[in-house]
Amino acid sequence: MKQENGLNLMEKIVALCKRRGFVFQNSEIYGGLNGVWDLGPLGVLLANNIKREWWNSVVLSRDDVVGLDSSILSHRRVWEASGHIASFTDPLIECKICHERFKADLKKEIEEHAKTHPSTGSRQVAWTDVKKFNLMFKTFVGPLDNEENKTYLRPETAQGIFINFENVLSTTRVKIPFGIAQIGKGFRNEITTGNFLFRVREFEMMELEYFVEPDTSKKWFDYWRQERLKWYLDLGIKKENIKLVDLPKEDIAHYSKGTTEIWYNWPFIAEDFGELEGVANRGDYDLKQQSKYSGRDLSYFDDDKKKRYVPYVIEPSVGVGRMMLAFLIDAYSEGGNRVVLKLHPKLSPIKAAVFPLLANKMDLVKLARNIYDNLKSEFGSIAFDDRGNIGKRYFYQDEIGTPYCVTVDFQSLEDQTVTVRDRDTMKQERVRIDKLSSFIRQE
Ligand code: GAP
Repeated sequence: MKQENGLNLMEKIVALCKRRGFVFQNSEIYGGLNGVWDLGPLGVLLANNIKREWWNSVVLSRDDVVGLDSSILSHRRVWEASGHIASFTDPLIECKICHERFKADLKKEIEEHAKTHPSTGSRQVAWTDVKKFNLMFKTFVGPLDNEENKTYLRPETAQGIFINFENVLSTTRVKIPFGIAQIGKGFRNEITTGNFLFRVREFEMMELEYFVEPDTSKKWFDYWRQERLKWYLDLGIKKENIKLVDLPKEDIAHYSKGTTEIWYNWPFIAEDFGELEGVANRGDYDLKQQSKYSGRDLSYFDDDKKKRYVPYVIEPSVGVGRMMLAFLIDAYSEGGNRVVLKLHPKLSPIKAAVFPLLANKMDLVKLARNIYDNLKSEFGSIAFDDRGNIGKRYFYQDEIGTPYCVTVDFQSLEDQTVTVRDRDTMKQERVRIDKLSSFIRQE
């Protein structure tokens, strides 16, 4: 039942994202490129707000985390050292009848496919053995397409942090425990993509590598699991839709000493919740591997304790698009004849919309423009709308999650007040124009 309603909800969200310019299928005019999506004007604003909130919480509000922006391309030795060339694989099987390929652990999809073989209609069942498929995109650096010049688009941003560990240590005043955070693109040639932004082939990641003394790693692992969960709750994700799940040993990545995932109540997963974000205790695996392959010492001398060690790393890691999808699903609501995106105001793409009551009354338009200009200089993303009736304008702003609509009417000309309508309660109140920005900021 959940899945039936959920798929329906997903269709509505995908349609809303297209209709209002949040997300477009990449290369749509050529039939689309599978697993690759583009952000439209509102999508960019939403994604930027999400990234800003993450960056504020993980870097700017703290004195123990610094930022980094490493490159998408790296020396191929980085990927040999990290284990990605050998182990970043998914199990793949191919249908011998129509040659479609599947991730071997997607049992439901495989059963469905075998029933009718959509492209041939055959009822025979014949699969190849399971093979390992490496998910990294290959490319060449320089004008020669040979083995020597081969490298990969990064499948995670984390390695960019490990290979700069020494640089950050020697150029800043950080002391363990400390973290290095970055936001950047990752690429994975997923065998099966799907569920809109959930599993894609190109996506932005937000990753923190938090370096700690090995003995304290359990404490910090617990700290970051709780911190990250709290962050979602503070930004309005409903408590009943999110939970922490400790992964069993057989399900964790090759580098991990323990992983907890933050699971969200995805509408397309019938049985349970599913992964939104991972928090892993990567131990000293990465620094030791990069040290072994590069020949550089990536240990740390603890001045206070007068000892040298290779730090352990606690890593919260999440995809921006997957997170954006969770916020959209959680915020989506229908009531009466309206659709409302009840996004936290900090995430709403547009902070407020300003309307003159009538578009043909020049003094109303002039005052509304004036208010719009002032708010825009402070908040940036403010909308102005004088088309259609007020009801239609509310309808549009509700759908894109604008917390406040400000209407300039005839009373405004007399007493310098405006009507402010709240997206969630639909309550309207008169607010003095000179108090408007503090009213909007209070959220
Ligand atoms: N550095 C750790 C790492 O890469 P991961 O669990 O493979 O760990 C981290 O990925 C997060 O990136 C996931 O929790 C998810 O939010 C996001 N993610 C991973 N693969 C994705 C994909 N194909 N499409 C969208 N998001 C993805």
